[in-house]
Amino acid sequence: MEERLQKILSRAGIASRRGAEEIILAGRVAVNGIVIDELGAKADPDRDRIAVDGREVGQTGDRIYLVLYKPAGYMTTLKDPQGRPLVTDLLKGVRERVYPVGRLDYNTEGLLLLTNDGEWANAMAHPRHEVDKEYHVRVRGKVSAQQLDQLAAGVMLDDGETAPATVAVVRESENNTWVSITIHEGRYRQVRRMCEAVGLTVVRLKRVRYGFLGLKGLRTGEYRFLTAEEAARLRRSGSSGKGPSKPRGGPGDTNQGKKPVRPKARR
Ligand code: URA
Repeated sequence: MEERLQKILSRAGIASRRGAEEIILAGRVAVNGIVIDELGAKADPDRDRIAVDGREVGQTGDRIYLVLYKPAGYMTTLKDPQGRPLVTDLLKGVRERVYPVGRLDYNTEGLLLLTNDGEWANAMAHPRHEVDKEYHVRVRGKVSAQQLDQLAAGVMLDDGETAPATVAVVRESENNTWVSITIHEGRYRQVRRMCEAVGLTVVRLKRVRYGFLGLKGLRTGEYRFLTAEEAARLRRSGSSGKGPSKPRGGPGDTNQGKKPVRPKARR
């Protein structure tokens, strides 16, 4: 997408917007080998070669947005005193310093967003930004209708009652049950604590959806860049309004035709 040259240069960290205008006016900028010395020119940072003083402007400094399929056994912090693996270790080929948007526990798998755009990260993490997050939880044994109702209606935790959630059983085996839980809050270890509060033992926890975004096309440990449209749409989508996703592939594969349990109380 074409953008004003000074915007591209300032985002690339070359100078402030004002400083970039001066650099352009001084005749120090070339686009595809042609010197541009007036304001108003546009270029496409993905397609055009933009150089300052003969040195090409790289992608470093651009705002980038990633979706990672986090494996269990990785920290979402940027360092770990215990030396455990970090999610950023998985981002081979990403030169920018990115950081996770929110947290997933060390043992939680699934969809994790990362960015170097502080403003976007803050907007996404704001409590009023109520994006649905869907988790698939494997719990030990069977889950009763009453436990599902409790999870859906709201559970009292030590930091207050949880907001209503959308809950559905996605698969049952002899020893375990996979439950889909969609929440829009993001409290510390929320899903694990909700399950524990209704007497369920969590064996595995995976985030499968964040707003409209799923894990399609990614295997565990893999990441991809979001498009600018996807990043903008995520930011806009306070709530996707989507119910739980149909379990496809992997665990939670056979929906047994059970209807999602929607909260009976408040909405
Ligand atoms: N809820 C949890 O309990 N853990 C996570 O990592 C995410 C949500």
